[in-house]
Amino acid sequence: MLSFEGKTVLITGAAGGIGAETARILSGLGANLALCDLKGCDDLADELRDVGADVVTAAFDIRDRAKAEAFIAAQPQLDAIVANAGFCPWDDWDDADWDDTFDRVVDINLKGVINVMRPAITGMIAQKHGKAVVVASVAGRMGGLRASPHYVSAKGGVISFTKWMAAKTAPHGVNVNAVAPGATATAMVDSSNIDPSSIPIGRMARADEIAQPVVFLCSDAASYMCGATLDVNGGVYMG
Ligand SMILES: NC(=O)c1ccc[n+]([C@@H]2O[C@H](COP(=O)([O-])OP(=O)(O)OC[C@H]3O[C@@H](n4cnc5c(N)ncnc54)[C@H](O)[C@@H]3O)[C@@H](O)[C@H]2O)c1
Repeated sequence: MLSFEGKTVLITGAAGGIGAETARILSGLGANLALCDLKGCDDLADELRDVGADVVTAAFDIRDRAKAEAFIAAQPQLDAIVANAGFCPWDDWDDADWDDTFDRVVDINLKGVINVMRPAITGMIAQKHGKAVVVASVAGRMGGLRASPHYVSAKGGVISFTKWMAAKTAPHGVNVNAVAPGATATAMVDSSNIDPSSIPIGRMARADEIAQPVVFLCSDAASYMCGATLDVNGGVYMG
């Protein structure tokens, strides 16, 4: 059930962190990959090709709906998509430029997810199979440990959007679900000042500890999962 032989998975925000670990695990399970990010994914693509994966890459901003739609349309096959790209500034809502940051955070974390999900799930409905996974956040479940209100609101929004998509696609053989990570040791938390002692497990997650549940939701083992949010947060929030 966990084999991805002959399947193609598209991952946004694949250049590093959780997205790159998801790509590594999927390639080990036989997947071919379509990787995109603001930054190039060429080093990761070379690494995965060396272990036998077919990999295509693109560099674009998921806020650009036309580029997102063109990349998805260019894939001859798409069995699963992981909407993972995200942006989390550790700012204060009293900052002078906060309104501009608010727009950017919501555009990336909410509308950007919609920009890639719209064409992907339209194709999956037509082909009558597919898996879609949104990488949300514990911040969207319980308000976060240190996150600002724009990020918390956007991540809460993508959890609701996941349920909207799940109900729309389930009758057509498509499963849509989310993973809500807690604090994870990636570039995103470099300046976050998160205190590991506030996490019951006592440490942040490694990126691969979030990627494994993402991969599960992309697999045939998740055939009866629909609109769920998997909490992977070290005990910070137990829904
Ligand atoms: N690290 C954490 O503590 C944590 C916790 C909860 C949720 N998350 C979520 O996990 C996901 C992955 O984050 P990560 O921790 O691996 O961080 P990361 O910063 O390592 O990776 C995020 C990737 O998204 C890309 N990206 C950002 N904005 C983009 C845009 N507009 N268009 C295209 N690509 C863009 C970045 O270039 C980067 O490669 C994000 O959605 C994040 O919100 C992370």
